Amino acid sequence: MPARILVVDDEPDVEFLIRKKFRKKIRNNELDFEFAQNGVEALEKLGGNDNVELVLTDINMPQMDGLTLIKKIQEFHYTVKSVVVSAYDDMDNIRKAMNFGAFDFITKPIDFQDFENTIYKTLLEKKREENIELEETLRELRETQQQLVLQEKMASLGNLVAGVAHEINNPIGVVNSSADVINRCMNKVETAFQDEAPDTAKIIKTMNLLKNNNHLIQTAGDRIATIVKSLKNFARLDEEEFQEADVHEGLESILTLLGQEIQERIKIVKNYGELPKVYCSPSQINQVFMSILMNAIQAIDGTGKIDISTFQENNDVSIRFTDSGKGIEPELLANIYDFRFSRKSQRVSMGVGLPASYSIIQKHNGKIHIDSESGKGTMVTISLPLK
Ligand SMILES: Nc1ncnc2c1ncn2[C@@H]1O[C@H](COP(=O)(O)OP(=O)(O)O)[C@@H](O)[C@H]1O
Ligand SMILES: [Mg+2]
Repeated sequence: MPARILVVDDEPDVEFLIRKKFRKKIRNNELDFEFAQNGVEALEKLGGNDNVELVLTDINMPQMDGLTLIKKIQEFHYTVKSVVVSAYDDMDNIRKAMNFGAFDFITKPIDFQDFENTIYKTLLEKKREENIELEETLRELRETQQQLVLQEKMASLGNLVAGVAHEINNPIGVVNSSADVINRCMNKVETAFQDEAPDTAKIIKTMNLLKNNNHLIQTAGDRIATIVKSLKNFARLDEEEFQEADVHEGLESILTLLGQEIQERIKIVKNYGELPKVYCSPSQINQVFMSILMNAIQAIDGTGKIDISTFQENNDVSIRFTDSGKGIEPELLANIYDFRFSRKSQRVSMGVGLPASYSIIQKHNGKIHIDSESGKGTMVTISLPLK
């Protein structure tokens, strides 16, 4: 695309001269000139066209002079850069124009080499400013993205808490009722020993009960330890960001943490392949797995199935989640990685699970692909490159 330049001058032969001088650059699509005879006409052209990058304006013109034009351009916040063309001894006006926001000036009579240099210098400056603006926008976007990833992490931790509380409550119930059993057994043994001739058979029976009970406590303790280990594994708060990690270990931790909700209504089928360790940020990858599994669970009404397959293909490790849930409507699937608001139960919440997952996988130079058929189910495949 050529750089568009608007030349404002009331001298009629200016257009002819410029077109002649720059005809090669115009023909090569490098520069594109438009012309206006005064400030009013120039503003009309600028208002209807935001592609003009540079305005070169004379000062003395009928209807609206160049200084007023430069002032207006500034007032309207047009992004166009302006350069004033003035008699070489007209320092007063040149200074005014610069004060009003002109970027540079050219003196009359026009030296076309200077004219050309000024055009390119100004265009370059405009590009530089645009780049700075773009970088700023990009940085803001990255920050927002990071915040959303964090927000999703907090949300998924929140979701976890309910499940984990339930998971820990079961073994705690076992421990408590075991304490009760121990109490009763101890009383029995005590009473038995108070007899003149203790009933050995009864004591042995009670001891056996205690042994059994001991086993129950052990199992409950192991269970709680597993849950705590899974929690630590999921959060990975105490470890460095990127490292070699076992994908299956992450998946298992999450399944343990989701336990209660899953066991009751959803069958988990695991097809784990042989996988090497993957260089990744385990806490972030776990977050992605968690989001995808949560979505799958939420998509299944009543009973259903989630298949988790892992496999290695060339230099990629893939993890595929296939659920028998309600599937994703094509319209939603088409822009599934955009941030959106969704209504789950009564609350309206921001759907950031998949956008956050997308940005995490991108950061890992991986790929995420979603296949879904409304009413049939959804398949989410994540591929992570091996180093
Ligand atoms: N496995 C799935 N099955 C059906 N719908 C899904 C599945 N995964 C995602 N979706 C749909 O995509 C939407 C966006 O998901 P997500 O980005 O995780 O945000 P949220 O879960 O907070 O809504 C969900 O609300 C849901 O409608
Ligand atoms: Mg979600």
